[in-house]
Amino acid sequence: MLLVLTLVVVSVVESRNALLRTPPMGWMSWELFRCNLGSATDDCSDPSTTHCISEALYKGQADALVARGFLSAGYNAIHLDDCFQASARDPATGQLLANSTRFPSGLPALGRYFHGKNISFALYTAEAPHSCAGYPGSAFHEVLDAATFASMGVDYLKVDGCGSTSYYAQGYKAMGAALEASGRPIAYSCSWPGYINQGNQGSNESLAPFATLIMDGCNLWRNYHDIQCSYGSMLSIVNHWGFWGSVMAPWAGPGHWHDPDMLIIGAGCLTPDEERTQMAIWSVIAAPLIMGNDLRNASEEAVAVLTNPRAIAVSQDPLGQMGLRVEGGDATPSQVWARRLADGSVAVAAFNNLGGVAPQPTCAAWNHTPGGFFNSCGGGLGWFYNASVSAAQARCCENAYCAGILYDEQTASGTFVVDYNCTFVPSTTFSEYTRVGFQPPEGTPLDIDIDLRAAGLDTVRQYEITDIWSGQPLGTIQGQSKFTAGAVPFHGTAFLRFSPA
Ligand code: GLA
Repeated sequence: MLLVLTLVVVSVVESRNALLRTPPMGWMSWELFRCNLGSATDDCSDPSTTHCISEALYKGQADALVARGFLSAGYNAIHLDDCFQASARDPATGQLLANSTRFPSGLPALGRYFHGKNISFALYTAEAPHSCAGYPGSAFHEVLDAATFASMGVDYLKVDGCGSTSYYAQGYKAMGAALEASGRPIAYSCSWPGYINQGNQGSNESLAPFATLIMDGCNLWRNYHDIQCSYGSMLSIVNHWGFWGSVMAPWAGPGHWHDPDMLIIGAGCLTPDEERTQMAIWSVIAAPLIMGNDLRNASEEAVAVLTNPRAIAVSQDPLGQMGLRVEGGDATPSQVWARRLADGSVAVAAFNNLGGVAPQPTCAAWNHTPGGFFNSCGGGLGWFYNASVSAAQARCCENAYCAGILYDEQTASGTFVVDYNCTFVPSTTFSEYTRVGFQPPEGTPLDIDIDLRAAGLDTVRQYEITDIWSGQPLGTIQGQSKFTAGAVPFHGTAFLRFSPA
C-alpha cells in the first residue's frame, strides 16, 4: 500500500515551474485591511483612512517589512489582495485595471517600489466573473490577464474562486497555462480546493484535486475556510490539518504547498502563547508564512516570534516534507505535531490544547443593538458598539468562520466586516466598534509527554534537543521512548528540535 502510494505521488508531484521550492513568506493585506475603502470620496487622503486599500498602505507595509527585520528574516513579498481593482476593465483594451485614485502611480510603479527593496510583488484575482468583493475577475480572460500581470512585474498571483465551482477545472488550468506562456516566472496560488463543498469549504480533503492542481502549475492552494482574527478560527484550522494531515501530506513538497491561510501573529487577537502556537504549527505543516498583521505596529514580541530563525528554519527546511499531528485530537488536552527535516532532525511541537474545541461551522443571527457586546468568534476579543445605526439588526456570524474585524491597533478601534464566505449574510459594514480590552483566556500550564517513536525519532540514536523559541540546548536523549515538555503554557506550544548528535 505504501509503495503504491509513493509511486503514485512521485509520478504526479513534479512541479510545472521552478518556483517556491520552500513555502512562500510575506505579508498580505486581507486579514486586517479587508476591503477598507476609507472615505466615500475614494481618495484615501483623509488621515483617518491611513488604513484603506491604497498604494500608500502597501508602500508603508513594504517599508516596515524592511525596517523591522522581516525581509532579512525571509519574508520577501507584499501581497495585494482583493479591492485594488477598478470597478470595470479598460473599455479600449479589455485589460484589468487598478483603481487609479487609490493607486495614482499605477501598479507597475508599485511593483518597482517593491523590487527596489528586493521585495516580490504579489497580486490577486479570481477564476470567476467577479472577485469575492465584486470587482472584475479573470474567468475567460486568462491569457490577457496573465500577460497584463507579467507586464506589471507581478511575481506571485493568488487566484481566488468566488464563482461557479463548475468553471474551476477549466479556469485554473487556463490560468496556469497563461502564466507559463507569459514568459515571466509567476508563482501561482489556487483557491479551488477551498471552494469544494460550498458552505463548509474544503471540509473533505479527499475530494480536492491535488494532482490536477499540481499539473495545472499551482504552487500552492488554499484548502479551507478563511482565517479570522481569533484563536477559535486558528484552532479550527489546526484541527482540520490535524484530522486530514495524512491525506494531505503526500501532495505537499518543494514547489507545491497546502495553504492554511495567513498568520494572525501580531494582529492583536492572540495571546503571545497562542501566537507561538500558530508559528510552530504553521512551520511544522510546511505552510506558507504570510502575515496578516499590520507590520507598522505589530508588537515587538510578535516580531520576535515571526522572525525566530530556528522556527523559520523548520518552515523552510529543504526536504519540504509536511509534518503531521502524531498524537492527540481536537478534544484532547494536548496535541503533538512532528516534521522530519533534511538533516535527520525532527521538529516537534507540543501544544497545550486545554479548553480548546473546534467552533461549530454554523452561522447564527445576532442582534446588533447599539451598546451591545460582540464577541469575536470565541477568541476572547470584546467589541463595544458605540454608534447608532439605522440597521441595528443585522445577521452576522458568531463563529470563527465568518465575521471579521478590521482593527486599527493605534486607535484601538475597528470596523466589523461580514465575511464573504458566509454567503447568506448581507454585505453590510458597520463602523465604530471600540475595543474594550483583550481578555486573555485563562487556563493552566501542562506537562506534555512526547512519544518519540510516534514523532518519528529513532530511539536508538542519540539526539541533541534545542528549544526553538529560546535557542537554548536542553541536553541529549538516547534510548528513551518519551520526553516530557514541562509546563507548556495554556494555549501555548513547546517547540523542540531533536538533532542527531
Ligand atoms: C476570499 C478569500 C480571502 C480574500 C477574500 C477577498 O474570501 O478566501 O482570502 O482574498 O476572498 O475578497
